[in-house]
Amino acid sequence: MRKFTCLSRWANNELTPKIIDYQDLISKNLSYEILESFGLYSLGILGVRNIPKYDENRLALLNLAKKLIALPPESKAEMTRRNDLDIVGWRESNNNPNDLLDYLKGSFYANPEIDSPVNPGDWADNIWPKKSFPELEPAFKTLGQQIIHVSALVSQQIDQMISLRSKFYKPNTINDITSTHKNHISRLIYYYPQNEAKNEWVSWHKDFTTLTALTTSIYLNHLTGEIFSDKELESSNVGLFVMNRNREIVKIRVEPDTLLLQVGEVAQILSGGILEATPHGVLNDGLQKNISRVTFAVFMQPKGDYVIDCDTPENVFIEHEGIISLKGRWEPKTSFNEYIQRTIKSLY
Ligand SMILES: [Fe+2]
Repeated sequence: MRKFTCLSRWANNELTPKIIDYQDLISKNLSYEILESFGLYSLGILGVRNIPKYDENRLALLNLAKKLIALPPESKAEMTRRNDLDIVGWRESNNNPNDLLDYLKGSFYANPEIDSPVNPGDWADNIWPKKSFPELEPAFKTLGQQIIHVSALVSQQIDQMISLRSKFYKPNTINDITSTHKNHISRLIYYYPQNEAKNEWVSWHKDFTTLTALTTSIYLNHLTGEIFSDKELESSNVGLFVMNRNREIVKIRVEPDTLLLQVGEVAQILSGGILEATPHGVLNDGLQKNISRVTFAVFMQPKGDYVIDCDTPENVFIEHEGIISLKGRWEPKTSFNEYIQRTIKSLY
């Protein structure tokens, strides 16, 4: 995995991605804006604002994270599955500093749309802490389902844009996955403070999804629970960073009510390389002591037996130094399950 030890060279490199208004997403053809966000020379990330009730739903869930991590061990046991392959319910990171993708986090995973997978075996059944933390399930499902709804609108726009640029592209491919596959896993994440200056909460990687939707984060003092103000965070390099298409590292700055969407490797393949998975990381320069981060992500992905394919496979191998190559994990006719299993093997 790539490690960055010098933050100063990109300390001031902040950008606001293209922001789309929710009403425009519904009523306009935004192919140009989509291309600007996800195509060649783009930042690889898009924001959507003015989504009705979204910020209320976001805060309702994120504000539960502090309670989640403070639950007693018996409550955490109630929502934990022992099989390591079943990533549902409560999961504490292994606190292994060498595990750069999953270090120092407490998370709750679930599918926000359905409690049992459409294809048995694709995912374990959801496990909700109905007794010890009943408010978690409704807040998680409300926000998760709303985000999938908005992501479907973005997916329709993405499909239109790709169709204009490729005669090989099967119309509605990405929207079909977002809207009908119901295999989207969501994660409420509490990033614990880093005890040593690792500079990374999540190391540089690309997602293994079609699309990933991310809320903005709340930063709080782990010891007191007080929320850090924007002003307090102004001089810190903390948060989501992406590598743009010119391979420059950019800190993403948006208003709190913005829903962020980025492209994963599955969409890169399905689009025949017109979309490019976004290299990103969550970094922390360590200047703010005891700082924790709370966020929520929805990972949109196809059903396990879905064959990830395209007519221009030669265009999909887009490499970034320090990030695992797609080579060896995907070739034409690979199912999503095969791709994920090979990916896990490459990582661990
Ligand atoms: Fe990611």
